[in-house]
Amino acid sequence: MYICLCNGVSDKAIRQAVRQFHPQSFQQLRKFVPVGNQCGKCIRAAREIMQEELIQI
Ligand code: FES
Repeated sequence: MYICLCNGVSDKAIRQAVRQFHPQSFQQLRKFVPVGNQCGKCIRAAREIMQEELIQI
């Protein structure tokens, strides 16, 4: 499912980046996936997915 429509970033891409790079913050995650850098509507959902994934690793 696409989370960031502006950049075509899926939940799967976010989860994969979290598992691979273990970002300590949302700002760090954004260095690895281009999420939330345009309209910003996806930021809340992307943060939730990042948190969900961090709990599991
Ligand atoms: Fe992600 Fe617009 S939907 S920046």
